[in-house]
Amino acid sequence: MSPSNIGAYKVEGKVDYDLFAEQYGLKQIDKELEKKIEKYTGPLHFLLKRKIFYAHRELDWILDEYEKGNPFYLYTGRAPSGPMHIGHLIPFVFAKWLQDKFDVDIYIQIPDEEKFLAKDLNQSLDEIHQVAIDNVLDIIALGFKKKKTKIFFDTQYAGKMYKQAVRVAKHITFSTVKDAFGYGNDTNIGALFYTSMQAVPAFLKSAEEGHNIPCLIPLAIDQDVHFRVARDVLAKLGYYKPSIIYTKFLPSLNGESKMSSSNERSAIYLNDTPEAVKEKVGKALTGQQATAALQKKHGGNPDACMVCQYNKFFFEPNDKKLEYILNGERNGTILAGEHKADLTKKINAFLRKHKSKREHYREYLDDYMVHD
Ligand code: TRP
Repeated sequence: MSPSNIGAYKVEGKVDYDLFAEQYGLKQIDKELEKKIEKYTGPLHFLLKRKIFYAHRELDWILDEYEKGNPFYLYTGRAPSGPMHIGHLIPFVFAKWLQDKFDVDIYIQIPDEEKFLAKDLNQSLDEIHQVAIDNVLDIIALGFKKKKTKIFFDTQYAGKMYKQAVRVAKHITFSTVKDAFGYGNDTNIGALFYTSMQAVPAFLKSAEEGHNIPCLIPLAIDQDVHFRVARDVLAKLGYYKPSIIYTKFLPSLNGESKMSSSNERSAIYLNDTPEAVKEKVGKALTGQQATAALQKKHGGNPDACMVCQYNKFFFEPNDKKLEYILNGERNGTILAGEHKADLTKKINAFLRKHKSKREHYREYLDDYMVHD
């Protein structure tokens, strides 16, 4: 049995992260590996410490190669279809930290054909293109290094990518993608082909430079399926299999495992107004008891409290302060109203800064983008 609720284009219900790791052969990041990472990075990013980035494939090998003077490059991506929410930002925040700590290149793929092919969105490619530019601004606003970052839209980098994609595609049969993605006879042939485009940046630098370069991909677990297929193919083509480091999903404000782009109220968007944030956080699920009196007496459950989870995943990087918040929930000393007001303040402060960075970076967009 495999966790069939985690598809590349749909995640449903509760996600069992341990089961996912076990079923697909990921290794959980243990103390020993944490130490090995720390050797190069200094104090671990809170996303690692808190086991939000929790599993990997061959990260130890990537570090061994780095130690030997054979540095890796990073690769991640984002398929545009609408504005980004906080959950979308997590892999990029972590990728930026890795770029800083290891001083390495990063390739960021913006597959502007992916959602067009894989989903019934009623958006033209030109409309998606506009959204894609917006998404790139949100990404570069995190502060990626200009000289070490290459961002590309598939439709504008096809000259470079297509030749490599067909090499991959030749090794992927219909039956493989059918099994891996749950595709059927009614799936359009563009969607079937797409996974070979997502494979390309995992070896593009090696193909460009004419020798093998290790590649590390930070991603959310729903993207693993592409690379389960690609890793075998890349080995057949004579490249290294890419290493992967996996993040859990930021839960939705109403407590579902993943923020859904299709339910606007369940997610905090990077373009939300302060009023919208206040309203959404106000309605968020907390782990609290039915009344203040009961909450004070019995306390609540931080794992079931989305206010706590938003602090843990993103908005409270300071471990001591986070512990204070989680304890306040557990012991019933912080009530929902206070909790929510504090988170609303943090989110709005973050968004205000983010929006201004975004505007600042607009003028540097071309420094990051590559095209044919
Ligand atoms: N398929 C991803 C999405 O739906 C986009 C993507 C392309 C990606 N290349 C990637 C994500 C590499 C992680 C790693 O958003």
